[in-house]
Amino acid sequence: MNDNAIGIFDSGLGGLTCVAEMKKAAPNENIIYFGDTARVPYGTRSRETILEYASQDIALVARQNVKVIIAACGTVSSALGDTIPCDVPFFGVVYPAARAAVSATRRHIIGITGTPATIRSGAYERAVAGMSSEDICISVPCPLFVPMVENGITDPDDVVVRSMVERYLAPIKEKGADTVILGCTHYPHLEDAIRRYMGDDVVLISSGAAAARAAYDHLTAADALSGRDTEGSITCFTTDSPDMFYENAHRFIGDVSMAVHKVTMEQLVGKEQI
Ligand code: DGL
Repeated sequence: MNDNAIGIFDSGLGGLTCVAEMKKAAPNENIIYFGDTARVPYGTRSRETILEYASQDIALVARQNVKVIIAACGTVSSALGDTIPCDVPFFGVVYPAARAAVSATRRHIIGITGTPATIRSGAYERAVAGMSSEDICISVPCPLFVPMVENGITDPDDVVVRSMVERYLAPIKEKGADTVILGCTHYPHLEDAIRRYMGDDVVLISSGAAAARAAYDHLTAADALSGRDTEGSITCFTTDSPDMFYENAHRFIGDVSMAVHKVTMEQLVGKEQI
């Protein structure tokens, strides 16, 4: 048994979809979440910049004495590829989501949505190809989905939402995909709109939820879940306003209690202690 916290991070609030899933699977675990809300979005930046930000994020989370780290960010996970960036067990979203999609698809046509950097990396396609030679991937970058979600523009009746979903998902629908990887952890917040456009029988894979389950399975197998018999805490760190984080976080994770602390750039790069 291990009572250390589970560390989860993302460029912004999207990774809270992973926190929500972990909380469901393991309510007694303490969770430390870092959202780099001052620098979101990552997905429209160069690979070099994404890797630089990712190494700062991972070092910050690792300094909190965590037993596992989840990069709840498709952009970071796909930029890292197979790199193991820290000493503690590390999970990205790409392999768990690809595995879930390969086991869900019946027509062997998988749609992949993600940020421009994620789609450019080809990481999801490589992961699917490594697991199944039968499956065909249709990949589309969806650059406006992250700003829409961060700003709460997700209502499936909203004309902007409907038209952006149709614009991005049309090639996936036309090719007859029965399974779609939501390859960015923000996208589950557009799930209703995507499902309405794609049809009720499409399987939507939440990459953050898939990563949470992979990390949970690892902790179970390693006998490293907490022995706590009371509910665990959620402690969040953010590079922008904690008040804004707190207000917006509830749209992502519902009404759970959490403490939110500001992280300065000096603390993020390790020059000062939190
Ligand atoms: N949630 C992040 C991802 O999964 C958002 C990316 C971004 O910051 O652009 O890719």
